[in-house]
Amino acid sequence: MRRWVVGTDGGPAVEVQTNPDHAWTELGDDDVHVWIGSLRRPPARLAALATLLSADELHRTRALPSPTDRRRFLVGRGELRLLLGRYLGTAPGAVRLIRLPNGKPIVASSAGRTPLHFSLSHSGEQVLYAVTRTGEVGADVQRFRTDVDWRGLASRFFAPAEAIRLHSAERASGRPGFYRLWTRKEAMAKADGRSLFWWLGTELSSDRTPGWRLWTWRLPAGMASVAVRIPRWAG
Ligand SMILES: CC(C)(COP(=O)(O)OP(=O)(O)OC[C@H]1O[C@@H](n2cnc3c(N)ncnc32)[C@H](O)[C@@H]1OP(=O)(O)O)[C@@H](O)C(=O)NCCC(=O)NCCS
Repeated sequence: MRRWVVGTDGGPAVEVQTNPDHAWTELGDDDVHVWIGSLRRPPARLAALATLLSADELHRTRALPSPTDRRRFLVGRGELRLLLGRYLGTAPGAVRLIRLPNGKPIVASSAGRTPLHFSLSHSGEQVLYAVTRTGEVGADVQRFRTDVDWRGLASRFFAPAEAIRLHSAERASGRPGFYRLWTRKEAMAKADGRSLFWWLGTELSSDRTPGWRLWTWRLPAGMASVAVRIPRWAG
């Protein structure tokens, strides 16, 4: 997996090539660690990851209709547990994950300890994780799809000014521009729990969305965004 460290002080994203075993020691209070990787694993690795999942996660894995979806869910959750276990200094299988009524998974934090926030997203074989102690975080990755009518989706869901800007963009920048906005909005929805559709229709600008930091990565075949909300920045 590739890892970026982004500082919520507004500095640039820095790609860091360190062994994940050491990464947790470097998560500063204002840092967000962003991990991007693949969900492909050999069968032996799948069996090892399955031993880390909770009964609920195994139940959800088995309930998925296709072998591909089962593998992707299993790897996404297994690697999530390995990552969180390193940050928390806990065995991966012992990381306590709770699902909120809206479906958002969170780490059950012990009294007196700063909570560890995380967000997970997958699209096709790509997976994205964001981990921070700073505040609520959301992550979204989307692979580019040629069968998606991005102009129609922009007109239907985005704020009118954003849709107009995308429609008038150069041919080469329209589609990436659409994915950039979509992943940012979905990341914000996943961070603060507000409806995805509310965020899609809300124009993103520093005036309208104070208290947020956003980062976006252009991937070889997709786009990834991470959003962190820090209430004290909202003034
Ligand atoms: C949450 C939602 C946006 C995820 O979209 P997606 O593009 O299909 O999938 P992603 O891979 O990006 O994200 C799925 C992961 O997000 C997490 N997740 C699920 N529900 C979540 C929620 N409400 N908030 C934050 N994270 C959530 C889970 O970790 C999930 O992966 P897992 O089931 O393998 O653990 C989607 O379920 C949705 O549109 N829900 C509609 C309800 C809505 O608007 N909710 C608002 C809050 S997002």
